[in-house]
Amino acid sequence: MIRSATEREYAMVEPTHFDVRYEINPWMDASRAVDRVKASTQWAMLRQTYVDLGHQVRVIEPAPGLPDMVFAANGGFVVDGQALRSRFAFAEREPEAPAFAAWFEAAGLTVHQLANVNEGEGDLRLVGTRILAAWPCRTARAAHAEVAALTGREVVSLELVDPRFYHLDTALAVLDDETVAYFPPAFSAESQGLLAALFPDAIVASAADAGVLGLNAASDGHHVVMTDAAPALAQQFRAAGFEPIGVDVSEFLCAGGGVKCCTLEIRR
Ligand code: ARG
Repeated sequence: MIRSATEREYAMVEPTHFDVRYEINPWMDASRAVDRVKASTQWAMLRQTYVDLGHQVRVIEPAPGLPDMVFAANGGFVVDGQALRSRFAFAEREPEAPAFAAWFEAAGLTVHQLANVNEGEGDLRLVGTRILAAWPCRTARAAHAEVAALTGREVVSLELVDPRFYHLDTALAVLDDETVAYFPPAFSAESQGLLAALFPDAIVASAADAGVLGLNAASDGHHVVMTDAAPALAQQFRAAGFEPIGVDVSEFLCAGGGVKCCTLEIRR
């Protein structure tokens, strides 16, 4: 299978203020100190990896006091030049929403506000023409109809059932317009059925690889930038014609984040 890359525009937020100061997912332990130098080095490597692949990387100014703002994927969902700004599930992160929205405005995107809680591309993933949307952890099911109305696209609702996989991008990777990889036990039986019907050729991740957020990956259709801690999953990607590129994002895993969480795709 020949896979082809397309140039992407990504937005990232520098981890200047990155920290684990509260616990809003099972990965976070506020008593453990974050190594910010290590985080900065890992983030810079991730950014450079995208640049080396020929992608555009826009850097959004980090705001002090918002330790999770580095997870740019949660800032909104951007498709067709429309930016759906986030409405965070936890008060700790809600002040990030206006900061991201201001950047969207300045970037020339049309900004929309949803009435329901949603955490952007963390829970809304574009696959081809349709959008896969998760609930209930961080995005309300009621937001899915709003997303469909605002984008004019089909939205497929998927129910997450394991607290470790609290965002869609922790349990499912979008590799190209037809191909996804996912960890079935993260989804309800009904959602597993939907995924199996929609993506009969999907790559199924092991518990070990999903458990290090191996699925929290960013693909350009050929290169799959992912954690270096999931070599078996990387091998599955390679066998399917993709080129995995492993990066060390261990410091972000302490906050329950990975490669994709740090990366918001901008689709003009
Ligand atoms: N500590 C952050 C939170 O719990 C991590 C967000 C990770 N982002 C993602 N797109 N999965 O909100």
